[in-house]
Amino acid sequence: MGGAGASDARARQWPFSVVRASDADAFVDALGGDATRVLTRAEDVKKYSVDWMGKYVGASAVVVLPRTTEEVSKVMRHCHARRIAVVPQGGNTGLVGGGTPTRDEVVVSLERMRDIVSIDEDAGCAVCEAGVVLEELESAVRARGMTVPLDLGAKGKCQMGGCVSTNAGGLRLLRYGSLRGSVLGLEVVLPNGDVLDLVRTLRKDNTGYDLKQLFIGAEGTLGVVTKVAISTPRAPRSVNVALFGLESFAKCVEMLKLARGLLGEILSAYEFFDRESLDLVLAQLSGTRDPLPGKPCEFYVVIETSGSDAKHDTAKLDAFLNVVKSQRIVVDGVVGRDEKHAFALWTLRERISVALKYAGAVYKYDLSLPTARMYNLVVVLRDRLRPMFGSRVKVLGYGHAGDGNLHLNVSCAEYDDAIERAIEPFVYEYTRDERGSVSAEHGLGVMKAEEIHYSKDAKAVELMATMKRALDPFGIMNPYKVLPAAAVGLSKL
Ligand code: MLT
Ligand code: ZN
Repeated sequence: MGGAGASDARARQWPFSVVRASDADAFVDALGGDATRVLTRAEDVKKYSVDWMGKYVGASAVVVLPRTTEEVSKVMRHCHARRIAVVPQGGNTGLVGGGTPTRDEVVVSLERMRDIVSIDEDAGCAVCEAGVVLEELESAVRARGMTVPLDLGAKGKCQMGGCVSTNAGGLRLLRYGSLRGSVLGLEVVLPNGDVLDLVRTLRKDNTGYDLKQLFIGAEGTLGVVTKVAISTPRAPRSVNVALFGLESFAKCVEMLKLARGLLGEILSAYEFFDRESLDLVLAQLSGTRDPLPGKPCEFYVVIETSGSDAKHDTAKLDAFLNVVKSQRIVVDGVVGRDEKHAFALWTLRERISVALKYAGAVYKYDLSLPTARMYNLVVVLRDRLRPMFGSRVKVLGYGHAGDGNLHLNVSCAEYDDAIERAIEPFVYEYTRDERGSVSAEHGLGVMKAEEIHYSKDAKAVELMATMKRALDPFGIMNPYKVLPAAAVGLSKL
């Protein structure tokens, strides 16, 4: 913890108070005197200061672990009065440095707020605290025949508050749509400590501005999400998974059109990955196997169907298989024989990001692009980087083809500024020229706060900054995330 006298230069650059020992004492008071939930030892704080990939490293001196909304409120009230910067943190599985400190922000971790408040089978919805892990909520609602309309690779660790704050997309957005439609209500602690109770489980509520939408995808820059009400549709009774090998991305797009037409309402996921992605998974993750041995393909697609009648769904899937085979759209395919086999097929797609992490450093880009042209960027970037770096870098393409979302990843042994300069701003300019989005689902975090202009015009950014100032006049909530520094009166990091 710093002393009282920070230098003027530092204060200019970081207009927030240095956290003192007396602030940690105030947090202990806010948490009912429980000093075990205010972490100040460097070895305890460390894991909250660095993100999942080890890419974004801050220097927090204090982590606070509230158990109730009231405790969050008291902590925020103190930070607001003292102008202390705060970063709310969920499962710390983010990919753009949105949930970790940039400097010595106080980390407010929601991990102790893990109650499932209610599950309503008749209405098809659940209310939970922000720290509930996605997979735990899924198990709880599954026991009542329902499902959470969100699924991602990080489900075993990511928390509902974090999912909402990043507007996480994931593997079944194609079926259930974005969280902006599934989240029915929220409770949020505002930067000044006030509690905004927007927890409702109504499907329809047309009483003016839909304020909860402000906090969905705000990445903790406007307040701390403490409770989530979410719709929980009936779990599908019949699920099929199939994996196909294809010779070109154009064939993946052709097959998507067919899948939409022939599988229709039972199509619940359409995910693709390229040869480089599969090779990396097979090399990095033990227990994985080539799904189509002896038939190497350039592209793979995982299709999932979810419905309520196994006979009907199987008939539809069979008809679809006949068409894609007879029209030679696919080289080959395999249908999951049972749950274990289906899980193994899904693993090849779901765990690419884990394989990338094991392989070393990774530059991750999460882009919305016109589906038919989406893979061109992978090819163009490969051609651009090869003469400069040869086999030192690998360019991988995978993602949610059914949602027009490309995950473009550049894998290398170590982070290297020369590689980064060769990728950026090239990738962002390419995306802008396609009228795409530089963040399809991961958010902007600290990584892309300064790049927002590639996807939003100046007027929109100005309005966002006006909203930020209205809710957080001192700018203490997650500084340097989402909005460019200059737009909210900060000096560059
Ligand atoms: C995924 O779709 O696998 C996730 O968004 C993570 C990633 O992009 O690597
Ligand atoms: Zn994704």
